[in-house]
Amino acid sequence: MTGAGISAESGVPTFRGPDGLWRNYSAMDLATPQAFARDPRLVWQWYRWRQGIIGKAEPNPGHLALARLQSRISGFTLTTQNVDGLHQRAGSAHVIELHGNIWRARCAGGCGFVRDVAGEPRGDEPLGEPDAVPVCRCGALLRPDVVWFGESLDAARIELAVRAARDCDVFLAVGTSALVHPAAGLPLLAGRAGALVVEINVDETPLTPQAGLVLRGKAAEVLPALELRL
Ligand code: APR
Repeated sequence: MTGAGISAESGVPTFRGPDGLWRNYSAMDLATPQAFARDPRLVWQWYRWRQGIIGKAEPNPGHLALARLQSRISGFTLTTQNVDGLHQRAGSAHVIELHGNIWRARCAGGCGFVRDVAGEPRGDEPLGEPDAVPVCRCGALLRPDVVWFGESLDAARIELAVRAARDCDVFLAVGTSALVHPAAGLPLLAGRAGALVVEINVDETPLTPQAGLVLRGKAAEVLPALELRL
């Protein structure tokens, strides 16, 4: 399971790091359904700004090492909290995106319509003016297809992640502050089920005392080195 830390070396800001998003922006004004209801234009402007950063980012050696491990090890499940799509760009398949994906938009009215917005230059007709709020074919607004604070995760995705955590032999927790649930509960579940929990992080987290092995370092350096030993 990965968090924002694995994409830090690709130039994608983390959330709670020294220059993290939540240090500079209010999550309550940008990443809640209430914020979207209050000011959908502001919320879209912010997600387009993040798309701008992520669109320029490249997968780093950490993403690439996980993609190679997935192709070598049967029964390798990749779960991520990241919405940047960098795992898929690194070649990983069947990535369980617990918190959605910033390159998709879905109907805020609940008609079920989901649209891929990757590669569409912002300001292109489908999304209208750069700071326009895109509208669904049913007439409701489109919103970023990500999980906001106070929202539930997709039941099927969390079920897949829980099953993989419960059945794994080794759980790699990479670049996550292990603060946001239910994702933060997955390594604990794996540990209780007998797996070796390995934390890969530049810093200590609440998970550190529970981990069977702590590899303190940058994901883009630790993962390729670990790959060589697996
Ligand atoms: N390599 C490894 N770990 C790193 C690196 C790096 N290069 N850089 C930072 N880290 C670690 C930090 O020490 C921190 O523990 O990555 C973690 C990033 O933590 P957060 O910013 O809290 O990100 P994350 O854990 O993914 O956040 C979880 O919170 O805001 C919500 O939905 C959002 O998915 C996100 C969720």
